[in-house]
Amino acid sequence: MEKKFSNEFYGEMDRIQRFYPNKLAMLLPALHAAQRDRGWISEETMQDVADFLAIPKTRVKEVVTFYHMFHTKPVGKFNLQFCNNIACWLRGSEELIHHAEKKCGIGMGETTKDGRFTISEVECLGSCGTAPVCQINDDYHENFDQKALDKVLEEFR
Ligand code: FES
Repeated sequence: MEKKFSNEFYGEMDRIQRFYPNKLAMLLPALHAAQRDRGWISEETMQDVADFLAIPKTRVKEVVTFYHMFHTKPVGKFNLQFCNNIACWLRGSEELIHHAEKKCGIGMGETTKDGRFTISEVECLGSCGTAPVCQINDDYHENFDQKALDKVLEEFR
């Protein structure tokens, strides 16, 4: 079979497959690995994952479109995913989001022209006790405030 993904993808799949009873059960880790490979999950990537796991593309698509951690369109190198649910909202997430939009010069769901930052809104990140929370790529930034946000934007610029 033609290789559609990186060696890292196939290496990871080889390493983990003994932990799963069948290929369908590997769908979530395969999607994470595919997204790391390509940055986001396009229709083509869904098909490639389906082919790799020998399952219908519809099974892949229903999972990709259910979970917000899978991106169905290109995102910036740094994806600022703001939780705006009740605990975070009560602790100022709305103002933080506006601040990020102003600093980056983009609106919600948009990516800066240089492809550096995307701002998105996500459901509760399960860390309400440290609200407000922003997930940047895979890392949580808890008790986030404007000062911390400015620092992060400066660091990643
Ligand atoms: S409401 Fe934001 S982490 Fe739960």
